[in-house]
Order: sequence, then structure tokens, then C-alpha cells
Amino acid sequence: GVTAKIAPSMLSSDFSNLASEAERMLHCGADWLHMDIMHAIVFIFTSSSYRHFVPNLTIGAPVIESLRKHTKAYLDCHLMVTNPLDYVEPMGKAGASGFTFHVEVSKENWQELVQKIKSKGMSPGVALKPGTPIEEVYPLVEAENPVEMVLVMTVEPGFGGQKFMPDMMDKVRTLRKKYPSLDIEVDGGLGPSTIAMAASAGANCIVAGSSVFGAPEPAHVISLLRNSVEE
Ligand code: DX5
Ligand code: ZN
Repeated sequence: GVTAKIAPSMLSSDFSNLASEAERMLHCGADWLHMDIMHAIVFIFTSSSYRHFVPNLTIGAPVIESLRKHTKAYLDCHLMVTNPLDYVEPMGKAGASGFTFHVEVSKENWQELVQKIKSKGMSPGVALKPGTPIEEVYPLVEAENPVEMVLVMTVEPGFGGQKFMPDMMDKVRTLRKKYPSLDIEVDGGLGPSTIAMAASAGANCIVAGSSVFGAPEPAHVISLLRNSVEE
């Protein structure tokens, strides 16, 4: 079967102390560190005067590179950018472990993306927004050169601390039925009160930001998430 991977989202950490926050999470039992790479692109001089993948701007390869100097941890990078191909090389050089791109922005070039991600020594994953049908990721999972993880967004990407969308569990159940050994990640609003839904639907990689960082004892939340998946 699939093993549990608990991935605190560093978006909820104190970015000014990223290395010690990472160390603290690993000490608390985290398997992976989830890194949210968001780039809001603004076109001022084109007809599409404002276009972005998410309405936020977070961190990029330079921060991954700095963090990599302080930890050997698996850096599970979630790219919320309009052109993920541009980031493969820099993220690979910076020391990213997983590179998850969004299916909504890679309809034309996902094969090239997957190939390039693997050639840079990273593990490719594909993510989908709440409004995107699950069928859209099937070709990427069934390809000769497949993605190794599917990330089912359980909030609209952009910010931590949003409310979990239970309707997304249908996607997780469908995927788990179809692909018994696939890594299925859920991201957004996961915590002690929502983990049972995600775990019983079949998710095994659990991203959790505010519920872990906001807890008096993050280790307690991490072990609770793990136990729910492994039960
Ligand atoms: C949202 C990000 C998430 C976010 C999750 O776009 O992809 O990783 O940090 O945060 P919580 O767990 O607080 O919903
Ligand atoms: Zn994320």
C-alpha cells in the first residue's frame, strides 16, 4: 500500500526564520516540507491587463536554495505559476525534491514538463484546482513517462487558512479506486477536524499549514494526521 507523508506547509511558518522552522517541523515528525511557490503575474501593457494564477506572491528558487543549505529534507514544491516550465531548471538547481505543477496551465506541454523535471532529478506531480475535473489528470498518470503524484486542491489555491472543501473527496475516491498505489496529496484546510474525510477517501500525502503551525503542539497534530492515514 501507500505510506503516509505528512507535509507541513511552510507558507504558515515564520519566513524570517525558515531554517529553524523547517528543523522544528522535522523534529515534530514531518516527512516532507511543503513549499508553496506562487507567482502573481501582472501584465500592464497587454490587453489582458491583469492575469495571474493565484492572487498572491510567495517564494521562489532562491529561497529553496537557501533552505537546502540547512536541511536534507524532502522539499515538496507546489508551483502556482502560469509557466511552470520556466521554473524547472532553477528549482532543480536550488535543490527541490518534488515539483508539482498545475494541469490548468500545462495542457500543451505536460509531457515536456514531466521529462524535464525527471531529468533534473526531481519527482513530478500534477495538481488540480477545485473547479478542474479529475479526468484531466488521467493522461498524465497513465503516460509512459507518468507523474508520480496527484495533488487534489481542497481550497482555491492562493492562501493558507481557508476552509476545506469536502466535495473534493469524490475526486480523491475516484483516483484511489483507479490507481491503488498512486501518491495522492490533499492541500488546503486539512487538520484534526477534516483529516478523517481525506484519509477515508484515500489521500496519503497530507499538506497542513495553519492547523500545524497554529497548534500549541505541532507534533501532536502531525501524529494525529499520520494515525488517521495509516489506520
Ligand atoms: C494554498 C496552498 C496551501 C496552503 C495550505 O494555495 O497551496 O499549501 O498553505 O494552508 P492551510 O493548511 O492553512 O489551508
Ligand atoms: Zn500547496
